[in-house]
Amino acid sequence: MGWNSWNWFGRKVTDADIRQAADIIVSSGMRDAGYRFVNIDDAWEGKRDEQGVLHSNEKFPDIKALADYVHSKGLKLGIYSSPGPQTCAKFEGSFGHEQQDADLYASWGIDFLKYDLCTFRTVMTQSALNDKRKQLQMMREAYEKMHQALLKTGRPIVYSLCEYGYDSVWQWAPEVGAHLWRTGDDINANFKSVAQIARGQAGLAKYAGPGHWNDPDMLEVGNGDLTLDENRSHMTLWAILAAPLLAGNNLTQLTPEVTAILTNRDVLAIDQDPLGRQGDRIFVEGPIELWSRPLANGDVALAVVNFGQDSFLRGISLHLKEAGAAAGWKAYDVWAGKSIGTIDDLHQVTLKRHESLLLRLSR
Ligand code: GLA
Repeated sequence: MGWNSWNWFGRKVTDADIRQAADIIVSSGMRDAGYRFVNIDDAWEGKRDEQGVLHSNEKFPDIKALADYVHSKGLKLGIYSSPGPQTCAKFEGSFGHEQQDADLYASWGIDFLKYDLCTFRTVMTQSALNDKRKQLQMMREAYEKMHQALLKTGRPIVYSLCEYGYDSVWQWAPEVGAHLWRTGDDINANFKSVAQIARGQAGLAKYAGPGHWNDPDMLEVGNGDLTLDENRSHMTLWAILAAPLLAGNNLTQLTPEVTAILTNRDVLAIDQDPLGRQGDRIFVEGPIELWSRPLANGDVALAVVNFGQDSFLRGISLHLKEAGAAAGWKAYDVWAGKSIGTIDDLHQVTLKRHESLLLRLSR
């Protein structure tokens, strides 16, 4: 759990923005809710000197000092690079300088690296023109190279792969040391994007577990034109998906409503459940989907999501058996923050457009 600069600041992010984010993560109660990583995404990079040592650009005068500041708040600092010669925003990448860069991050006190494919795609296609298999092998080797470089620094650094779900990354990412890997394309601050990504995660549950997670991308909660119901549905789905929670909103404009969603202890408990089993889709009927997730204490998280444009108001089957629960279990309505007594399979559900019901069921 943490926060990343990209979704709000994009390439404009500065040292001051990161310090301010760290301050607000503490003052808003986000740190105490579990948000610990403050991650600088793309656009911090400057030029390499004659020895090949990378320097940060003028927006980041001293990353070591920044890391010290972030650490002094009880938080961790993340950084970003690419295995290609350039990053996606056309800054300097790590190609040919992997160990040098890993050593630099470690010397600054970096705790997390997002390693984004970007221009390495060009390196792959140019080096192995029509040989797709060779290209994919090169990609894995590039990720393994940085894995080894990070290990060699001796500093524990969370390793986050970003290659947009290419080549069924979930099947091999743990072998190259990844702790998390993006499963698809970039998220945007609208519900269409959130819904499309969430629905695309069906079937990936078996690849995730403690220490190695599917990453459906950073949160857009609090960004764009997402409504209260949409922000909650976004969070509901990410919690069922056991997703890494990297907030991506403008913390200087944090509203009580958004803070409440990001720090809701019951939803975070589902997301961070120690069993570490990702949930999956159990039922679809048109725009209504049921997703469930088994939890460590034998409870089950069950989400009913209305992806449709219209309100939904009728009795539906909760598919309790498929969810791993049964009629007569007790239900706690997470967003309402209250118990709703025992449940039966047939349940009366009222959901507005893009609204979700998130239940925690216990025997
Ligand atoms: C890619 C990634 C994004 C972000 C940008 C930065 O698009 O998928 O998450 O890191 O690059 O340029």
